[in-house]
Amino acid sequence: MLRFIAVTLCVAVAISVATQVRPAVKPRPRSKAALTDFTVIMQRLWDLDVNGMSAATMRLALQGRTNSTSKLDEAPQRLFAYVNETFLLSRPTVLAFIAVSNNYEPRIGTAERETAQEQAEINAFLNAVCDTEVMKATLAFLQEQKQPFPTMAALKAHLKSIWFTLYPRSKNPANVIDSSGFEHVFLGEAKKTNVIGGLHNWIHAYRLEKTNILNYTGYVNSVTVLEPGRFIFGARLWAYNNYWKNPFSSFIFGASPEFDLASYTICFTLRPNKNCPFRINNKSLSIRTMRYMPNLNYVDTAYPDVPF
Ligand SMILES: *[C@@H]1O[C@H](CO)[C@@H](O)[C@H](O)[C@H]1NC(C)=O
Ligand SMILES: *[C@@H]1O[C@H](CO)[C@@H](O)[C@H](O)[C@H]1NC(C)=O
Ligand SMILES: *[C@@H]1O[C@H](CO)[C@@H](O)[C@H](O)[C@H]1NC(C)=O
Ligand SMILES: *[C@@H]1O[C@H](CO)[C@@H](O)[C@H](O)[C@H]1NC(C)=O
Repeated sequence: MLRFIAVTLCVAVAISVATQVRPAVKPRPRSKAALTDFTVIMQRLWDLDVNGMSAATMRLALQGRTNSTSKLDEAPQRLFAYVNETFLLSRPTVLAFIAVSNNYEPRIGTAERETAQEQAEINAFLNAVCDTEVMKATLAFLQEQKQPFPTMAALKAHLKSIWFTLYPRSKNPANVIDSSGFEHVFLGEAKKTNVIGGLHNWIHAYRLEKTNILNYTGYVNSVTVLEPGRFIFGARLWAYNNYWKNPFSSFIFGASPEFDLASYTICFTLRPNKNCPFRINNKSLSIRTMRYMPNLNYVDTAYPDVPF
């Protein structure tokens, strides 16, 4: 399925660049963002990402390579060999992210219920994120791209709407308000078969591994090393324990929550339902985003589109 999407995407991008296909809904002043603009902004966000990890604060142990059907454990050690938690857990956006991360029912088909406390946690997370240089640069870029966000408050309202609006994902039972873009992309959700979909945030994956919920068994695809020994962008993993399974996922390892949110939001806002290629440190990367429904401007999914 993912393989199929990756192949069709290249075609879709070629076509959309050639014909300037309009976004399906909420017509806005057409973005003139060229692919070089994405490279400029993503590099800028990367360089501004002071809450991200470094070679000094995080080391991964990729270990053996595996594939999407293998049941073998090619990685007996943990993926996260070292994380400086003193650093990680002193980042305000990370703390705010962790506070939100236990707000959701992990199983689709089970209704979400948001308490006042949880809504306050979402607002605190958005406030923390909007206070960073990463999000300030994102706002400036989206304004340059003629997006209707005159102020940070307007961008914050956009973030809240596209990421945190609750909607139904399960088909059976249908119409249960059980999901959101944030839950799916950052935390992951389990289907009846216990297969987890989504889960593209490395901090959440780290915390799941630490509590033995996630069992990393190897990397599947090639890994893009942005800075040797420092950041790794997107690895597809066959990670599961005896209960939860996640055949593939890709991550922006080491990035702060605001970098994930900003980069996905830029791609979702300017290139929804397409891939969004750019370079960081001259390495070719791409983010893929999808709308929940063609006519609803909520995030269905967003992830680093890692080649096989
Ligand atoms: C996947 O890995 C398993 C175990 O190593 C191997 O038997 C199988 O042939 C591999 N499948 C593919 C498609 O490479
Ligand atoms: C992880 O999964 C593999 C493959 O099923 C299994 O052999 C291994 O014992 C598991 N590791 C842990 C720590 O549960
Ligand atoms: C971990 O990070 C903290 C805060 O940045 C720093 O003071 C400390 O020296 C680091 N620890 C190690 C072992 O590098
Ligand atoms: C960037 O990468 C391209 C091809 O991947 C290469 O031709 C070019 O020399 C690189 N530029 C720099 C500044 O490293």
